[in-house]
Amino acid sequence: MAQKEQLGSDGLVARDSGAWAKEKLYYLERYLDIVSVGMKKKWALYYVDLFAGPGKCRIRGSNEEFDGSPLIALKFNFTKYVFVESDEECYQALKARVKARAPEKDVEILAGDCNDVIDRVKVPSAGLGLAFVDPTGLSPLIFDTIRKLAQNRKVDLVINFHEGMGIRMNLGQYTKSAASALDRFMGSSRWKERYKQSLKSFDQACSEIAKEYLGNLQSLGYLAFDSDRVPVRTDKNTLLYYLLFASKHPRGNDL
Ligand SMILES: C[S@@+](CC[C@H](N)C(=O)[O-])C[C@H]1O[C@@H](n2cnc3c(N)ncnc32)[C@H](O)[C@@H]1O
Repeated sequence: MAQKEQLGSDGLVARDSGAWAKEKLYYLERYLDIVSVGMKKKWALYYVDLFAGPGKCRIRGSNEEFDGSPLIALKFNFTKYVFVESDEECYQALKARVKARAPEKDVEILAGDCNDVIDRVKVPSAGLGLAFVDPTGLSPLIFDTIRKLAQNRKVDLVINFHEGMGIRMNLGQYTKSAASALDRFMGSSRWKERYKQSLKSFDQACSEIAKEYLGNLQSLGYLAFDSDRVPVRTDKNTLLYYLLFASKHPRGNDL
């Protein structure tokens, strides 16, 4: 059962967030706006959210609340939405909020671990998709899930790449472990080679790992570049994560 301070004003569970979550969602909303306006005449657009959350966020220690990614996406005219959420309470809250906010829209909400239910994500085969992949840290996401999502689909990706707390803070552990969360997130342990070659500078080593990830996305057919990522930092200017934008089409990257 959620603590009272984790409830939104509608009485349903809300995600306890730092102020930076607003910045992350600001970028997502702008991207959805640009893409949904720019592409809607050419494509049936769909939206996938693999780590959907309960639909509302609340700034830790305050009463300020705002829409989470699935409710933001509902503001735009996608022909189909698929949301995945593994936490039962968040799943129930999201279901209730979607019903209240947009009962007329075609929304499928899958309960479970997105790595397990990815094969159940059904979207229009000829459509163009946008997928938001927003795990809390590295460990909830394996690369094979991105591979399955992208297979035989035109789906652009916005991935929360946890370089700060996820990689920088735990890199020492990841280098010692034979099969770490970073290996699963990256899809292999090849990053270790790049890491070893760039050991003179910690920043360089982290940047090489990010490049390896972009390379892994490229191997799935994505145009994924260093320049197509935006940093999200704490109010003390500490890097938390990057939002990576990747498309299989040059026009997607332009947007
Ligand atoms: C960072 S939050 C997502 C926030 C959401 N994108 C938003 O903007 O409001 C991550 C969410 O994913 C859920 N989650 C964690 N592991 C998951 C998994 N393996 N599959 C699906 N959902 C997962 C958590 O319960 C949490 O609600």
